[in-house]
Amino acid sequence: MNNVKQKLEQELAALAQRTHCLLVSRGATGLYVAYSAIKKIEAQQRGAGGKSRIIVPSIMCHSPANTAIYAGLELIFCDVNPVDYTLDPHCLEMILRDTPEILAVLSVSIFGHAPNMKAISEICNKYDVYLIDDAAQSIGGSSDKQPSGSWGDIGIYSFGHTKLIDVQWGGAILTNDSTIYEACKATYEGLNLLSPAATQLRTLYSETYYTVEKLENKAVELAPLFWSFPHIFRDLYVYKEISLPENKMVTILEALTQLKRNNDTRMHYWQQYREQLQEQDALQFPILRDGSTPWRFTCRIKKEKRALIVNELRAQKIDVSTWYPSLQKRFPPAVNLNLLPCHTAEVLNDELLNLWIDPAKTNSETIKRTCELVNKLLSKP
Ligand SMILES: Cc1ncc(COP(=O)(O)O)c(C=O)c1O
Repeated sequence: MNNVKQKLEQELAALAQRTHCLLVSRGATGLYVAYSAIKKIEAQQRGAGGKSRIIVPSIMCHSPANTAIYAGLELIFCDVNPVDYTLDPHCLEMILRDTPEILAVLSVSIFGHAPNMKAISEICNKYDVYLIDDAAQSIGGSSDKQPSGSWGDIGIYSFGHTKLIDVQWGGAILTNDSTIYEACKATYEGLNLLSPAATQLRTLYSETYYTVEKLENKAVELAPLFWSFPHIFRDLYVYKEISLPENKMVTILEALTQLKRNNDTRMHYWQQYREQLQEQDALQFPILRDGSTPWRFTCRIKKEKRALIVNELRAQKIDVSTWYPSLQKRFPPAVNLNLLPCHTAEVLNDELLNLWIDPAKTNSETIKRTCELVNKLLSKP
């Protein structure tokens, strides 16, 4: 068992070109542990009143933001760029220039799109803040030829639901810094086990999430209904496991040997959508940086048309999603700071459309049927 764990940690560290890897219960817990570790190191170096703010992209899922709150960090949302929807280096630099007490920056390879990590990393170095490279959706990808998860001080992988390697369990923290690694290990070991009530909480989460989202879609003023979510659902995100499941670790090891082939298939499917939808003026396609390894086929379309397409595809039993929302409105604003709204993220919130490229969930036939339907709907006057 320990051999399997050790082997997997070695393989993941090698993939991310890091010296240390710590396997944990899930990616969200990995983020919590990473945030807590750097906060602890900061407190040791500077004493109480150390820096306690983290900059995160406004387009992403809730877990990296929720876990920052659990670690006692204040969230500062940064806008994303309209080309590939990742953290915008220009907005990042403006925030760092004007905002005190920033401890860290989280960059997310959202949808598997490679952010401009070189620019982001240079800016973080200039302002002397930690950089976390959240590669939960981009394992096997890269940016400027450096692997996803290798940038900055800490990298994060996830093997959870729908990820590029999906075993419905587990995450990894990657670093070259032994002080960070030791602090992460100590923090993880100090966590509680998964609470028995968590299964029920998970069902409650989906029900509540989609109910509140529906209300938020009717009136954005209702978005603050999300503000209490992190506190209610904490037990779902942060917990340790004493014995890691060996069968899942073995499956991850096997999946790593097929990772390139699987990611290439995803890219092939991505290109099929792109080619078959290219005539549509109503659609705006992202421009992916080299090294991107798409998690979904994601594009933009105006809100009303998006609703039409989503309804029709779902009526035909074709899965489609409008993730990710802009999170800025879903969390309380930072105290005493007058931050700029994330305009691009707000537009993307209304325009993003995602289609499956996971070889376990789709194939060329379904993609063809999907594109024919979308083309037909969009060619109607
Ligand atoms: C960008 C990002 N980071 C972190 C996580 C957390 O991973 P996990 O589901 O393994 O907790 C997710 C999960 O959806 C994610 O999309």
